[in-house]
Formats: sequence, C-alpha cells, structure tokens
Amino acid sequence: MQITSLQKNHIQEIILLSNQVFGENFLTKSYLLQYINSTNHVGYVLVTNKNLIGYLLAETLNFKQFTDSILIEKEWFKEHFKDYNNINLIQQIAINKQYQKQGFANQLIKETTNHLSITCCLAWKKGKVVALKNTLLKNDFNYLRTIDNYWSKDSLVKKYNCVFCGQPPCNCSAEVYIKKNASI
Ligand SMILES: CC(C)(COP(=O)(O)OP(=O)(O)OC[C@H]1O[C@@H](n2cnc3c(N)ncnc32)[C@H](O)[C@@H]1OP(=O)(O)O)[C@@H](O)C(=O)NCCC(=O)NCCS
Repeated sequence: MQITSLQKNHIQEIILLSNQVFGENFLTKSYLLQYINSTNHVGYVLVTNKNLIGYLLAETLNFKQFTDSILIEKEWFKEHFKDYNNINLIQQIAINKQYQKQGFANQLIKETTNHLSITCCLAWKKGKVVALKNTLLKNDFNYLRTIDNYWSKDSLVKKYNCVFCGQPPCNCSAEVYIKKNASI
C-alpha cells in the first residue's frame, strides 16, 4: 500500500469510488483533470499494486478563490478566514468500504495538512454521522460550526445524487473544521 500523487490513469477509479461513497455525478472528470500537473490542486491516492483504494483532493486557494468556492454562508467564511492569504481546502476524501476504519484516511489527512498555515475541511454529516470527525480531531483540527443543507442548492443546479438523500436536493449538513499550523 502506498500514497502517490494523483495521475491521469487514476481518474476512472476515483470517479467509480466517488460514485459509490458520495453519489452519482458528484465528482466529474473535468474537475479531476485540474489536478494533473497543477501547483494549487493537490491530489493523493492510496494504491495497492492492483487497485486504488482511496484518495484525497485539496486545493490551495487565495482568500477570494476560497470564499468563491464556498456554497452558502459566504459572509461567515469571509469573516473567519480574513487573515489568511492562502488556505488549504480539503475538497474530498474517500476510502473504499473494504478498507475503511484501518487508519487510511488518517494517513491521507497527514499528507495534506503540513504545508500551509491553515487547512479547512467541510466534513459531510450524513444523518447524525460525521465519518471524518475522529480523524480530523486526532489531527488537531478544531470544530467551528455546522451548516445545514450545505449542498442543497448546488445538488439541484449540478444534478448530482447523494448516497444518503438520493436525488437532489441533498439535505445533508456540513461541519466546518480548521487546523492552524503555528509553525508556518
Ligand atoms: C470518512 C472516511 C474517509 C474515513 O476513512 P477511514 O480510512 O475509515 O478512516 P480512518 O480509519 O483513518 O479513521 C477512522 C476513524 O474514523 C471513525 N470512522 C470511520 N468511519 C466512520 C463512520 N462511518 N462512522 C463513524 N465513525 C467512523 C473510526 O471509528 C475511527 O475513529 P477512532 O480511531 O477514534 O475509532 C471513510 O469512512 C469514507 O470514505 N466514507 C465515505 C466518504 C466520506 O464520508 N468522506 C468524507 C467526506 S467529508
């Protein structure tokens, strides 16, 4: 098992995994292509010698790019992140069901949180469960708040299904976590 950077030949398997764990059409090939040879899109994949078993996608964004990428409650994000010029935003993380709860998400999170002074993660709350919560807390993230119906409008516009809610709108909430890196 090893962690490598995302390459073009990983894209198909990433989309298959995303469809299984998040829902159909949430992740698109055109979005993933931005991660190839990019300086501000950072993708890591976890692979065995045969299969891709997990991935993490993050983007380094300036303040404007960051707030533009936020779907709702933009004013709150503007206020909380106004002191940062570069923000590491974890966009997605997924581990194949067979390999979950073995510490692999933990390994991927560690890869991505050390190079910028702030990392933000909007963790998906499916019903009452935030599967990433313990991993984030163990990696020194702090919980800031919960935003209800975070993907609702976006899912209607982009027409993606949620594995929890089914067809749009998605009614899941997002929990906002941040990690500040005092040494940078
Ligand atoms: C969330 C996810 C990436 C975690 O991956 P993982 O490799 O299983 O996580 P790790 O093994 O590193 O961490 C496990 C920790 O998370 C907890 N955890 C993992 N999945 C969980 C779940 N479904 N419900 C509750 N807790 C869960 C474990 O109990 C463990 O905590 P502990 O060590 O304190 O007991 C994985 O469950 C997944 O791909 N889920 C579907 C997609 C998703 O929800 N992505 C996150 C969007 S923000």
